[in-house]
Order: sequence, then structure tokens, then C-alpha cells
Amino acid sequence: MSDRPVLLLTRRLPEAVEARASRDYDALLNADDSQYDADALISKSAQADAILTCSTEKFSAEVIEQLDARVRAIATFSVGYEHIDVAAAAARGITVTNTPDVLTDATADIALLCLLGAARRQHESTAMLRESRWGRWDATSLLGAHVTGKRLGILGMGRIGRAVAKRARAFDMEIHYSNRSQLSAELEQGATFYQNPEDMLPNAQFLSINCPSTPETHHFLNADRIALLPDGAVVVNTARGDIVDDEALIAAAKSGKVSGIGLDVYEGEPNFHNDYLDLPNAFLLPHIGSATVDTRDAMGFRALDNLDAIFAGNQPEDKLT
Ligand code: DGY
Repeated sequence: MSDRPVLLLTRRLPEAVEARASRDYDALLNADDSQYDADALISKSAQADAILTCSTEKFSAEVIEQLDARVRAIATFSVGYEHIDVAAAAARGITVTNTPDVLTDATADIALLCLLGAARRQHESTAMLRESRWGRWDATSLLGAHVTGKRLGILGMGRIGRAVAKRARAFDMEIHYSNRSQLSAELEQGATFYQNPEDMLPNAQFLSINCPSTPETHHFLNADRIALLPDGAVVVNTARGDIVDDEALIAAAKSGKVSGIGLDVYEGEPNFHNDYLDLPNAFLLPHIGSATVDTRDAMGFRALDNLDAIFAGNQPEDKLT
């Protein structure tokens, strides 16, 4: 028996991350990446001093209350932590950590990809090629939304929102944002702040959703708020699917109120509202915001840094509880 802490990994992780986990812990890997439901998480916790998990596993209050008493920490391989009831973890003295910073750039890149893909009608354009429907070049088809000089409204101006703004400035977009609090002038960089998101929406010719999923942001983008957007707005969501009311957004895309949608995240993913697939003006990705080799390694290393700190008796950098 080694005296190293036992670390339960609930998902398959990048090779370099698993190698480091196995080097420094008695790592219980999920080699075939099987799905751990609540019962599995509870029963496997009997062997674990800490759990390294992903946003795909739900640590509800009910699960957390039944975790084995030996579990000291839950480190999530994600910046979002809506899948963990942090109050329940705190009540049991379990430290929870996430992985901010390291996925900011990759996720902001995907937001711009969604924005441009939706604005410039990537889905219809590529389908035309793939289905051999490309005829003579013409001056009037596949005309998209022009980005230069347009107003981009960013909902949630944390690290990722600011990285989206930085990229959008390179496209000469005008930045508007709504956030819990106004940023310093240095971080704001001339962007226009709205305390009330409803006041920003009429200015958002493009809207990028970059806020966390919380009870307050659940279905934020509903029919009433979509009505506040300028006609023909483009909507991008790379944060969490449940911030959008799917029925309302799909109806707006069908009516033309919204001219393009760029989504990387969906409520209930990997099951999602199938009507999105029928929308010609939707640019759809399967939650790949952080999916680069460098980023996924960095996320795993950041989660392990946090666990190393906890087992060394120090404060982890990304302590949530
Ligand atoms: C995150 O880190 O929150 C990504 O969306 C992956 O879950």
C-alpha cells in the first residue's frame, strides 16, 4: 500500500494529464471512459481521497452528502462549476477547485469562429459545395452580416468575455457589455457598460453570451429579450446552453428576427433541441471551446496543481469552497 493520496478520475483525460496523475497519486483512471452516474460516484468515492471530474458529472447536494468521508477535494477539469453544488461541498468540508485562465483564449477563439460562421453563412455555403450545388459566382447569394464597425454586446465580461472583446476589436467591432459590475477603465478599454442587460440588448447587432450558468442566468435569452435585439442580430453562445431558451431562439431564427446563430453549447447536451439542425442560418459546434491539445493539457495540469496544493496543506489557487 502506498501512502500517496488516491485520486479518482471520473473521465478519460489527456495522456500527459493521466501520466502526471499516475506519477503523483494512486490514480484510479477511467480507462474506457465509461459514464459514472450518481451511484457510481458515491460508491467509487469510498476509495478516493480526491476526485478529478469534468462538467459531465453532476455532483448534486444529494450526491455530495453521500460521498465517502475520506473525500477531501473535488477538482473540476473546467472553468464552469454549475455541475457541483459548492454549498453542499463546503458544508461537508470538501474543497472544490476549477480551472480558470487556461482555457480563456481557446474559448474566445471559438466564440469568434461562431460569430463569423453565423454571420457569413458557413453552414449554407459549405452545404452548397458538398452537395454539388455551386453554380456560377453571383453577386446576390449567400450575403451575410457585415462585421466591421458593428456593435457587439457581450453578456458577461469576465476573462473569456474580455478575450472575445479583444479579438472583436481586431475586427473593428464596437464593444458593449453587461456584467455584474463595471470593469476598471484599463480592463474596459473604451467598451460601453450597461448595468442592466436589457439596456444593452437593443445595441447588440451581435450578441456573445459569456456569463456563467446560474439560477439568475437560466433562460436569460428568452422571447422577451430577443425582441429587444435589433432586427437581424447574430447570437453566439459559447458559455452554457441553459442560458438560452431554445424554443425562443429557434423561433427568432426562423422568423428572421435573428439572422444567424453560432452555438457551441446546448441545454441538456449532448441531447439538444433537434430543430437547430434544420436551421440554415445556424453554425453549430459540439462544445469544443477548450478543445486544443495545449488547453486540455493545461486544464488538467491546473486541476492537478490545485490538488497538489491541497495535499501539501496549502491553499489551492482556484479554490471555490
Ligand atoms: C469549461 O471549462 O467550463 C468548458 O466549458 C468545459 O466544460
